[in-house]
Amino acid sequence: LDISIIGVPMDLGQNRRGVDMGPSAIRYAGVVERLEALGHTVKDEGDIAISHTRKEQSPNTHLRNLEDVMEGNTKLANKVHEVLLEGRYPLVLGGDHSIAIGTLAGLADRYENLGVIWYDAHADLNTAETSPSGNIHGMPLAVSIGLGHEDLVNIRSFAPKIKPENVVIIGARSVDPGERDLIKEKGIKVFSMHEIDKHGMTEVMNQTIAYFQERNVDGVHLSLDLDGLDPLYTPGVGTPVPGGISYRESHLAMEMLYSSDLITSAEFVEVNPILDEKNKTADVAVGLMGSLFGESLI
Ligand code: ARG
Ligand code: MN
Ligand code: MN
Ligand code: MN
Repeated sequence: LDISIIGVPMDLGQNRRGVDMGPSAIRYAGVVERLEALGHTVKDEGDIAISHTRKEQSPNTHLRNLEDVMEGNTKLANKVHEVLLEGRYPLVLGGDHSIAIGTLAGLADRYENLGVIWYDAHADLNTAETSPSGNIHGMPLAVSIGLGHEDLVNIRSFAPKIKPENVVIIGARSVDPGERDLIKEKGIKVFSMHEIDKHGMTEVMNQTIAYFQERNVDGVHLSLDLDGLDPLYTPGVGTPVPGGISYRESHLAMEMLYSSDLITSAEFVEVNPILDEKNKTADVAVGLMGSLFGESLI
C-alpha cells in the first residue's frame, strides 16, 4: 500500500493535557519503519495545525472548545480528502477522538457506503444534550451520523457522513443513557465486552466482517481508540475503563481484518504520553498497526 500518515495533535476534545503529543509518541515508537518493513510505501504528511489556546467553555453551548475543534477537524477533513485523491491510504494518528469527525468527513465524499468499526470502551454517541461532560471526544460518532452541533455536523458542507446501520462498535463497556437510547433507536450494531467474553473475539470479528460484506460497503474505516483495550495494556489514555479487550484479542482482531481485505483507512487515537508508562501505549498502537497492515507471527 501507499500509506499517508497524518498526525493530529488535538487535545481540545477533552480535559486531559498531553494527548496532543500522541502523534509524536507513535512516531517515536517506530510506525514508519514498522510499516516499511512490511513492504508498504509510507509518506509522513506531518501534523495538522491545531490551536493550542484553551478557551473557556464556548458561550451558550455545552461543547468545550467548539470553534477550535471545528477548525482543526475541517483542516483534517481536507487533508484526508487530498490524500484519497492521490490514491493513498490515510492513516491518522491522534490526538483525542474528536478527530474522527474530520477523518470521516474527509472519507465520506469518496465513499458512498462507508462502513466504520468503532473499537472503543465508549460509544462516542453523545450530543450536546446528552453529554455528561461537554467533551467533544464523546460525540464524534453521533456527529458523523448527522446528530449534534450543526457546525460539526456540516463540516465540508454535507451531512450525514455515514449511515448508522454501517457502524459496528466493538469493546463497549461505558455507555451513557442517551447513547444507549440512540443505539436502540438507530439500530447500531454493538459487540460489547459481554459478547466478546461470551463468544470470543474470533466469532465477533467473523460476524463483523460478514456484516460489512452483507451491507455491500465500498470501504471500511477502522477508528481505534486505545482505551478499547484494557488499561493494563494501554494505560496512557485519558478515560481508562477496566475490563477491556486484551492485547492478544486485539492483535487477533487486527490480523483478521488484514485477511479480510476490507479496511481502506484507519485512525489510532487517545494516546496520551503524559499518562503513559514508558511509551507503552504508543508501542501497543504501533504493534496493532503492524498486525493490521500484514505482520504475521511466523
Ligand atoms: N461518554 C463520556 C463522555 O461523553 C466519555 C467519552 C470518552 N470518549 C473517548 N473518545 N475517550 O464524556
Ligand atoms: Mn495542546
Ligand atoms: Mn474511548
Ligand atoms: Mn473514543
